[in-house]
Amino acid sequence: MSINVRDVAARAGVSIGTVSNVLNRPDKVSAETVQRVTSAISELGFIRNDAARQLRAGRSKTLGLVVLDVRNPFFTDLARGAEDQAALAGLTVTLGNSDENPEREAKYLDLFDEQRVHGVLISPYADITARLIALRNRGIPAVLVDRSSGDLSFSSVSVDDLEGGRMAVEHLIAQGRRRIAFIGGPMGIRQVTDRLAGAQDAASAHPDVTLEVIPIDALSVIEGRSAGATILSRAVGERPDAIFAANDLVAMGVLQALMMQARVNVPDEIALIGYDDIDFASAAVVPLSSIRQPSALIGQTAVEILLEEADDPSVPPRQIVFKPELVVRGSTRRP
Ligand code: RIB
Repeated sequence: MSINVRDVAARAGVSIGTVSNVLNRPDKVSAETVQRVTSAISELGFIRNDAARQLRAGRSKTLGLVVLDVRNPFFTDLARGAEDQAALAGLTVTLGNSDENPEREAKYLDLFDEQRVHGVLISPYADITARLIALRNRGIPAVLVDRSSGDLSFSSVSVDDLEGGRMAVEHLIAQGRRRIAFIGGPMGIRQVTDRLAGAQDAASAHPDVTLEVIPIDALSVIEGRSAGATILSRAVGERPDAIFAANDLVAMGVLQALMMQARVNVPDEIALIGYDDIDFASAAVVPLSSIRQPSALIGQTAVEILLEEADDPSVPPRQIVFKPELVVRGSTRRP
């Protein structure tokens, strides 16, 4: 099997971006690191794929990144991680917001194709596999972020959302809650349906636990507030005793509805847990329990993989799946 940039980075004990710098911008790297990398190159017999590089000569020094919702701090943290890693390789990032709209998503892919970007990172809304294959055939690699690649034909960096959904509901059950509501949507977003599936899996293990689904049209504060109002319109005995919101923005909206509009005590009357652990979560009026995703690390890792595939198109696709982490705060404290 051909030696690739990843093998060189491992042998030299540096990142893929550093190997790329040594190959393309050695003036930006210390002499000691250049020495380590060049030694690894000669020991492994690494040969640069200059034919592919010639093919892409003159390509911009920019990566294209398309996220689902630029208002969501999860994605801005992810973009920051991607930008920091890209800067190490002398590249910049152009950020696009699909706003969970397939037409907008397609327009950004058209733009990045016209710009002959170095590569594309995308958290896809629609099924864009055929579009990404066309880009790759034109010498533009793509890596999925925050979503695994369904057919594994593209590398991806994501978090195990099934496990995350399971963790959220198991925590609520451990806190003594039994009438749980999942608030999330649109169900076309894989992250939402995976979290729901994990939640249902955890609930099904407990005969005395019920899990209802309250669908929403977008993962936003406004939709969370609307779902909270729906719950408040019920008689007290008909309300859930715990809510799992598909992300922290939705959870913040639910919290606003419950506490500001109706003076419902969170967590004593209704516990609440979100997903992402954005900065606002810990600063909420009742600090929000959440399922943490390593958002910046997702962006950083995706760029490392993308640069390697841009340098050597023969590198096989990889699925990197990080573990989620339960962060317990006041919004799920026992009554
Ligand atoms: O936008 C969709 C959601 O999925 C975000 O809140 C984040 O959780 C991502 O993983």
